[in-house]
Amino acid sequence: MSDDGSRRHLVLVGLMGAGKTTVGSACATRLARPFVDTDDIVEANTGMSVSDVFAQQGETGFRQLERRAVADACATPTPAVISCGGGAVLDGDNRRRLHQAGFVVWLQAPPATLMARVKDGSERPLLHGRGTATLERLATVRAAAYEAAADAEVDTESRSVPEVVDAVLEVYPR
Ligand code: S3P
Repeated sequence: MSDDGSRRHLVLVGLMGAGKTTVGSACATRLARPFVDTDDIVEANTGMSVSDVFAQQGETGFRQLERRAVADACATPTPAVISCGGGAVLDGDNRRRLHQAGFVVWLQAPPATLMARVKDGSERPLLHGRGTATLERLATVRAAAYEAAADAEVDTESRSVPEVVDAVLEVYPR
C-alpha cells in the first residue's frame, strides 16, 4: 500500500464464477469494511437488472454504465472491498482507475469449475444457454487484461470460501 493511502481499496477481478461477490463480501466482513459490487451499482443507477440492461442496451450500453459504476465504486470514501463484473477490466480506463484506487486481486479457477459454480448462467447474459466452451474462450481472450489489472493472483480451485478469503487477505498489503 502506498504511504499516502491512495491505493486503499481491495479490488477483486476475474471471470464469472470466480467467487468475486461471495469472497468479496466475506473479505469485507473480515475487514469490517463496506462491500461494493459494480453490477449492483449498475442496477442501482438504472433501476434495471444486468440482464435487462443487456437486453435493452446491448453489451456496449452495459459497458458504458459499468465504466461509471467502476468510477463510483473507486470513489467510495472509506476503504472498501470492490467486486468487479467479470468484463470490467477489458477497459483500459477501468484498469487504470482500479489500480490507482486499490490493490487488485485476480481470482482464478479452470473454466469447468467456473461453469459448475454459475450453474445454468441464467443471470449472466454472456453465458445464458451456453456452455463451458464460452468460458474457455473468455478466459483466453481476457487473460491479458486480467494480468495487466492484477497486483496478485489467487487460485480458488478446490478451496473453500474461508480458505480463499485467507489467501486474499494474505496477499493484500495493509
Ligand atoms: C460479465 C460478468 C457479470 C456481469 C455481466 C458481464 C462479463 O458479472 O457484469 O453479466 O462480461 O464477464 P460477474 O462476473 O459478477 O458474474
